[in-house]
Amino acid sequence: MQTIRRAAAILLAVLFLLASCGKPQDGPVDTIKIGVSVYRQDDTFISLLVDHLNEYAKTYEQIKGVKLQLDFSYAQYNQSLQNDQIDGFLQKDYDVVLVNVVDRTAAGGLVDKAKTAQKPIIFFNREPVREDLDRWRLAYYVGADAAESGELEGRLLVDAYMDDPARLDRNGDGVLQYVMLEGDPGHQDSMIRTETSVRTLTQAGIRTEKLASSIANWQRVQASTKMLLWIEKFGSRIEAVIANNDDMALGALDAYANTGVADLPAIVGIDGTPGGLQAVSDGRMLGTVYNDSSSQARHLIQLACQLAAGESLESLPLTDSKYLLTPYIHITSENAALYSDAE
Ligand code: GAL
Repeated sequence: MQTIRRAAAILLAVLFLLASCGKPQDGPVDTIKIGVSVYRQDDTFISLLVDHLNEYAKTYEQIKGVKLQLDFSYAQYNQSLQNDQIDGFLQKDYDVVLVNVVDRTAAGGLVDKAKTAQKPIIFFNREPVREDLDRWRLAYYVGADAAESGELEGRLLVDAYMDDPARLDRNGDGVLQYVMLEGDPGHQDSMIRTETSVRTLTQAGIRTEKLASSIANWQRVQASTKMLLWIEKFGSRIEAVIANNDDMALGALDAYANTGVADLPAIVGIDGTPGGLQAVSDGRMLGTVYNDSSSQARHLIQLACQLAAGESLESLPLTDSKYLLTPYIHITSENAALYSDAE
């Protein structure tokens, strides 16, 4: 099955490249220069996305016989450093810039820079508001719908609860006591996942009680530190750990491992990273939600090279003429192994 998935992924990549990035309107393009600025280097999901970008860039070169120069810079979670990096790409006449923006409220200024330089700018993963994208005809966003991920995460808990209420509601009080581990403040995924995961539970008729919530900035170590305090404070009253991503869910698991507590609550995450999928497969996590970094990378390369070549975007599945979004996928121990191979 894994071989079939791998073969299908390669075939898809070849088909998309054959279908796109043809001859530019005003003469052949020998080298397409793409500058990528990433919000920080030590983020697991973003590292997977970067790997896939490199992969698709190579496939593109092989199939199209055009050189694709993909240069990365890392902003170390510092917006003014990222502004300088974007200025640098534009001054050096890169054809397109891809931005994983540090601070979403700074996106408008970056769009204006790209517009002044008359270059396309594509944001990814950290989503600017629509008004900022509307400032420039050639501003786009590639990512996924944050609400969908939160709803699917909540659904993992709803399904398990409906299947066997006692498995989640361990004290039998008819209320699901949970703790929430949140990503970085200001990120659309943190805010929306936090809200929609819990709303999905309450809409399914499950009563909930938040014992604690805290920001752990998507980071495993920060999550583990918070979780240790909560285990000490709430002990077995914690019936569910809802994490905005897999790394923080794994941090919660680290804390349980450190305290020697073997009877784990229901732990859910989002991303489907190799570590997250493994924890779902071996039953330490109840489930995760697959965030399709491979398809997002494919969309980024496809959109970037079509824009660089001045081609029509008609063949792309754009939403509201600005967005390329990939669906999230609900992962339990039943299908986790299928997605491990996709990473
Ligand atoms: C989210 C992802 C997180 C983290 C964050 C960075 O979409 O789920 O794990 O990578 O993006 O912006």
